[in-house]
Amino acid sequence: MNILGIETTCDETSLALVADGQKIIDEITVSQILKHQPYGGVVPDLGAREHLTNLTQIGGEFITKLKNAGHSIDAVAVAAKVGLPPAVQVGEAYAAGLSKSLNVPLIPVNHVLAHLWGVWVDPTFDEKPVFPLLGLIVSGGHTQLISFDSPTEYEIIGDTLDDAVGEAFDKVASMLKLPYPGGPQIEENAKIGDSQAIDFPVPMKDDERLRFSFSGLKTAVRTYIDKERPKILPEMEKFFVADVAASFQDVAFQAIANKVNQALKETGHKTLVIGGGVAANQRLVDVLFREIANAGHQFDLFVPSLKYCTDNGSLIAGYAFNYAE
Ligand code: KG4
Ligand code: ZN
Repeated sequence: MNILGIETTCDETSLALVADGQKIIDEITVSQILKHQPYGGVVPDLGAREHLTNLTQIGGEFITKLKNAGHSIDAVAVAAKVGLPPAVQVGEAYAAGLSKSLNVPLIPVNHVLAHLWGVWVDPTFDEKPVFPLLGLIVSGGHTQLISFDSPTEYEIIGDTLDDAVGEAFDKVASMLKLPYPGGPQIEENAKIGDSQAIDFPVPMKDDERLRFSFSGLKTAVRTYIDKERPKILPEMEKFFVADVAASFQDVAFQAIANKVNQALKETGHKTLVIGGGVAANQRLVDVLFREIANAGHQFDLFVPSLKYCTDNGSLIAGYAFNYAE
């Protein structure tokens, strides 16, 4: 069964055709990052307008290309429910029209859950994870721990009380005057920094709930920057940025690892699957490996390659297969 997936929840316009939930036949993704960069973050209305333009330009061509290559489209899936509302609505309207004109079912899927599916559509994985499992979604909009019995039977067992981790990375990057999106910038700058240089507090360390929180850490970073930056000599600026980035990054990931350990303990899951843009960060993977092993859990960790961490239509089409009739 071939499903056409449409993704427009944030700053990527993406369409993909995926066979049987796993095999990507074709995908086209257009990023709006450069359009939003001057504003330091995604502007929802601008995003919606761009999605509309992009879908009009590339959508028809993509579908014609698929048809000319002899591929059938058996259903249309769309990232729905979560995301920036004006942007999501553009995708939903486009997908509804398309499913009508092709006379095939429309499958709306939850964008956050679809992030889990990175590993399934990623062709570099010969063996796919086996359910039940623990999902960790770390993106610009969400930080969630989800206990999955099957792809469609799940319980959100951990969430953030305030900012999502990706959002915190973007905001700290902006405080450091690094361009949007900040996550990759923080990771890159942190490579020459000392993660022990600044003693930021590990969020929710003594809180027994399975909850994340990044606003306190963000405030601690802002306070530190405001106090220390004026004292820094211009030639030392690079190292100051690197130390703040490295220290913030490790504390944020330590907080995530603590709650992952708690969730593994509470659920008894032996498999952890990560998804979402922040999963592209190698340091997160290293910290998780170290901390989960230190806690004595036996586990298999699945992290998609970079392209399948971030938003794309293949995740939507692949995950939608689980809901197809
Ligand atoms: O999943 P995604 O593409 O979109 C959402 O659904 O939000 O995630 C985007 C987020 C942004 O906040 C971006 O800064 C973050 O993922 N991100 C990273 C890295 N690459 C992307 N955060 C930390 N390290 C990275 N290497
Ligand atoms: Zn996403």
